[in-house]
Amino acid sequence: MQPISVLGISGSLRKGSFNSALLRAAQSLAPAGMTISIADISKLPFYDGDIEATTGIPAAAEELRARIRAADAVLIATPEYNASVSAVLKNAIDWASRPPHQAFAAKPVAMMGASGGSLGTVRAQGHLRDILTNLDARMVSAPQVFVAAAHTKVEDGVLKDQPSLDFIRTLLETLAAWVEKLRA
Ligand SMILES: Cc1cc2nc3c(=O)[nH]c(=O)nc-3n(C[C@H](O)[C@H](O)[C@H](O)COP(=O)(O)O)c2cc1C
Repeated sequence: MQPISVLGISGSLRKGSFNSALLRAAQSLAPAGMTISIADISKLPFYDGDIEATTGIPAAAEELRARIRAADAVLIATPEYNASVSAVLKNAIDWASRPPHQAFAAKPVAMMGASGGSLGTVRAQGHLRDILTNLDARMVSAPQVFVAAAHTKVEDGVLKDQPSLDFIRTLLETLAAWVEKLRA
């Protein structure tokens, strides 16, 4: 297998974020040949068309866009806020989507999510799938990784729940196969 570079994006800025914990777990579960680096979206300003029209796309957004374009795939860990994605995640996607060269075009993307509730980001991931499909991202459709009651499964920033770890491992293997297939 050729090396596969994956950019991880957490939809939570919280230091103790369960979703960031999922991404760190993914880093240690990545199949041979896959490396996962994690983007910092905390410096992105809110999207503002006036900023874009006057001073252009801000440096933090340009960096994110460049990292998405350069990656072979993107792995998003989304929280669920009021039955949808977090504002910071949507904001990052909005900056990434601006022309020229919207960053998600034809990009292989996998998603997972952790929440405190019993649905484990089912609703947020549905919205996220719609958003990214609209951007022509090439979505992995299964397995769907929903980590419910995440506060019972993450200890000191480490995901301890074996079924969740197994799902993430399978998701990454599927993502690797998907990248290979799209390369061929
Ligand atoms: C504004 C807000 C809305 C939320 N709405 C939901 C929700 O709709 N469903 C859910 O399962 N959890 C909801 N939660 C709880 C989050 O799942 C929980 O805060 C989770 O830890 C966020 O992810 P993080 O740990 O990565 O920051 C909400 C939390 C906040 C702050």
